[in-house]
Amino acid sequence: MRREHHLVPTESSPTSTSRRGFLKSTGTLAAAGALSGVALPHVHAASGDTIRIALIGSGGRGTGAAGNALSARNGPVKLVAMADVFPDKLKTSYEGLKNQFGDKVDVPEDRLFIGFDGAQKAMSVLNKGDIVIFATPPAFRWPFFKQAIDKGINVFMEKPVAVDAPTAKRMIELSDLATKANIKVGVGLMCRHCRSRQELHKKIQDGAIGQIITMRSYRMHGPVGSAFSQPMPDSEDSELLWQIRRFHSFLWASGGCFSDFYIHNIDECCWMKNDWPVQAQASGGRNYRGENVDQNFDNYSVEYTFRDGTKYFHFGRTMAGCHDEFASYAHGQNGLAVISSEGHWPSKARIYKAQKMTNSEIVWRTGKEGPDQDPYLLEWEDLIDAIKKDLPYNEAERGAKASLVTAMGRFAAHTGQVITYDDYIKNPQEFAPGVNAFDMKSAPPLISEGGKYPVPRPGLLKDREY
Ligand SMILES: NC(=O)c1ccc[n+]([C@@H]2O[C@H](COP(=O)([O-])OP(=O)(O)OC[C@H]3O[C@@H](n4cnc5c(N)ncnc54)[C@H](O)[C@@H]3O)[C@@H](O)[C@H]2O)c1
Repeated sequence: MRREHHLVPTESSPTSTSRRGFLKSTGTLAAAGALSGVALPHVHAASGDTIRIALIGSGGRGTGAAGNALSARNGPVKLVAMADVFPDKLKTSYEGLKNQFGDKVDVPEDRLFIGFDGAQKAMSVLNKGDIVIFATPPAFRWPFFKQAIDKGINVFMEKPVAVDAPTAKRMIELSDLATKANIKVGVGLMCRHCRSRQELHKKIQDGAIGQIITMRSYRMHGPVGSAFSQPMPDSEDSELLWQIRRFHSFLWASGGCFSDFYIHNIDECCWMKNDWPVQAQASGGRNYRGENVDQNFDNYSVEYTFRDGTKYFHFGRTMAGCHDEFASYAHGQNGLAVISSEGHWPSKARIYKAQKMTNSEIVWRTGKEGPDQDPYLLEWEDLIDAIKKDLPYNEAERGAKASLVTAMGRFAAHTGQVITYDDYIKNPQEFAPGVNAFDMKSAPPLISEGGKYPVPRPGLLKDREY
């Protein structure tokens, strides 16, 4: 295929991409792209018109999100621009989407952008009424969100939307600006769009289990994603790009496995409680570090407290050979609600009239209306519906608060301190203040010493995580 020539660096392996080869392809595409962005006619998407989307961060989830958008039953939707910092990621994503969606993918070579400025260039292709997707590691959300607001385009951004208190606060402020500009914003906490959970939420509000007394959730499985990292191989020539590729390993990029993995359970429990916790205390540690150099613990236990005193416990473990569980529960005075029991979907939400999960005690369960619909598709259809009908729609503040209270639990574990929401939101540790000005030659925000990175030291470092 003709496109391959520009997209793939000369070396076949992504990790062995030489800087020169990478920059060569970067320069070619970026320069061509800049011109095309300027030349495109600016048409306003009106109700009934095709909604055009641009994908920033064409990795696993970004490709999935673009696919969900193109599959929306209330479209039509067309993908018109894509950006990534890695040519191999962009190529794989483009080819996969093109194969699956054909003409709905209208991204000529000069609208495929590579580099840290690719996001802005891809956004420049869009007009008001269109949607930009942010599916990079979350560190880049705030500068990209700001650019989208300045341009007046709608946003779908993946969770988490912030990794620390200063960036969460910034996202809340940006959210206000987005609302004032009538920009519609979806956040990838797709469980909020799960119809079964929505029904369960309503039932809980209507008193189906009485007052919630306690909640608990679990995300326990073997190592996944890039949570654990061996030292950077000598073949890598950019430590920044290597850290981005292994973003779950680094708090600045992802908030670590805590923020990236646990936010869904924490968010769905806070949703059922209709509130955000006011305090957290937590423990955690690393049983098996081996030669790994990342910043994550391999187990975490958090106790969140809500303003009425209700406790919520979350257990996270990234460890092979142990009991696996991925579920959330709410215990009420008059029964038990299963919010999710096998990951994200299907939720298998149900209510028991007692605290024990005995089949004969089930008083309500989902499934009567047919199988649970895919919440990753529903979140897109809800966003598109709001755009087409011009309904108020901005999930950014909620996403920022979910990101903030998740980071608060992680902070409590990493410092070994009890932390309140009011104190945590004032915590000044911003992991990557220069993220908005990165270029291909920038130093990473986290510098290794002897190939190792700073890790949390609970009880020793009490007001910062490393
Ligand atoms: N909602 C969900 O269930 C769900 C599931 C998986 C991932 N996610 C979220 O999606 C995001 C991406 O995760 P992933 O698993 O797809 O990771 P990934 O590494 O597969 O994809 C991220 C992509 O972003 C690119 N990128 C990084 N920095 C960039 C920048 N500055 N500009 C342009 N591109 C950049 C990377 O090169 C990569 O291709 C994360 O925030 C993650 O938490 C959400």
